[in-house]
Amino acid sequence: MMRVVRARIVVVAITALVAAAGVVAVAATSANGLPAYTNGYQSWPKLNAKPIRGGSSAHSGVKNVYASKKRAGKLFPNGTVIVKSIARPGDRPARPFQVAVMRKVKGRWRWVEYQLSGSRYTVLAQGALCVSCHMQARANDWVFTKR
Ligand code: HEC
Repeated sequence: MMRVVRARIVVVAITALVAAAGVVAVAATSANGLPAYTNGYQSWPKLNAKPIRGGSSAHSGVKNVYASKKRAGKLFPNGTVIVKSIARPGDRPARPFQVAVMRKVKGRWRWVEYQLSGSRYTVLAQGALCVSCHMQARANDWVFTKR
């Protein structure tokens, strides 16, 4: 009889742990589906002087580029998040169709692009594909847009 009760307690403890881990994962993502570290990007300083139109085949629309931190000399510091909003005609300003994100962790950029799907952003592309083109801007810390 005792043994059965103990086994049940262990199961409850494991379920609680799994639930706690789930909460942590959800907390890192905002309600709109973008990672929390992009929150408020539209009020960060812009790297572009005017909205960027046309340009690369990878990102087409009217674009603005926002950086959470300033360059320290040539390089952006660790923890910098750079967001490019890509809007199509008719998009609400707070809800551009696509959002491309670079985030510097331990000296290296991480790359993810999101696309609006209904009312939430989901991952469109990431990683090596992005690097293959941004290589061309390597001398500028992999960032094309300059003021
Ligand atoms: C075919 C080339 C190409 C590919 C592939 C590409 N980009 Fe870009 N990206 C650009 C260009 C060019 C710019 C400069 C602004 C513009 O013209 O849109 C840019 C700008 C950006 C910016 C703003 C900072 C900057 O460099 O100016 C971010 C953030 C970004 N891209 C993220 C991504 C991510 C994430 C991916 C992969 C999912 C990606 N890019 C794939 C060409 C590319």
